[in-house]
Amino acid sequence: MSLELRETQDGSHTLYITELDEHYHSYHGAIQEALHVFINNGLNPLLKSKQLNILEVGWGTGLNSLLTCHYANSTLVRYTGIEPFPIEKECSSKLNYESRLLGVQKGLYDQIIDAPWEVETFISPNFSIHKIKNFIQTWDTKLTFDLVYYDAFGPRAQAEMWERDTLEKVISKMHAGSILVTYCAKGQLKRDLVTLNCRVETLPGPPGKREMIRATKN
Ligand SMILES: C[S@@+](CC[C@H](N)C(=O)[O-])C[C@H]1O[C@@H](n2cnc3c(N)ncnc32)[C@H](O)[C@@H]1O
Repeated sequence: MSLELRETQDGSHTLYITELDEHYHSYHGAIQEALHVFINNGLNPLLKSKQLNILEVGWGTGLNSLLTCHYANSTLVRYTGIEPFPIEKECSSKLNYESRLLGVQKGLYDQIIDAPWEVETFISPNFSIHKIKNFIQTWDTKLTFDLVYYDAFGPRAQAEMWERDTLEKVISKMHAGSILVTYCAKGQLKRDLVTLNCRVETLPGPPGKREMIRATKN
C-alpha cells in the first residue's frame, strides 16, 4: 500500500492512497471536514451524557479520536477504532494535526498513536482508546455504542463498506437512540439505513460537499 502525504485546503494534512486513487479526508480540508461531520454533528449533541461509547469504523490516521479527546470536556469517552491497515508511525509522525489545532494538549496525538493495539488504554481520566486491527465485517463484540463515526473510503473506492450487510452489522452494535454520522449522503445509503430501523437526517455537508447523513436508531 503506498501512501502520499498531501496538504488539504485548510492547511491540514491527509494521506492519498495510490492503489485506490482516494484520500483519507476531504481535500477541501481534513480538519474542517472532521470537525463538521463528526464533532459538531455527532459528538456535540451527545455531550450532555456522563459517558459515551464511541465506535469509529476506519480509524486511519486517528484524527477523529484526537479531536474527540480534545472536545469531549467532562464526558467520559470510551473510544473504539476499527482499522485493518494501521499506518506506520513514520507516516503518522509527519501529520500536522496537533500544530493545526489551537489549544490541543502537546503530545496528545503521540499518546493516541502510541497506545497499544487490542487493549483499552486511558489517555486521560476521561478518555480511553481501544484500537482494534480488524475488518468491520469480521470483528465481533458484545459492546454497543452510543455514537458511530462511519469514516470508510467512499463507495467508488470501497463499495463493500456501503453494502447493506456491512451497515447492518454496524447498526446491530447500536441501541435505540444511538447516532451514526458519515460524510456520505448517497440516496441508497439513506434508503438502506431506513430499512435498518434508523431515522435519517440529511444535514448540510462540510465545505465542498452539499450534504452529509446523521442516522438515529429507532
Ligand atoms: C477514509 S479513511 C479513514 C480516515 C480516518 N478516519 C482518519 O481520520 O484518518 C478509511 C479507512 O478505512 C479503513 N478500512 C478499509 N477497509 C476497512 C474495513 N473493512 N473495516 C474497517 N476499516 C476499513 C482504511 O484502511 C482507512 O484507514
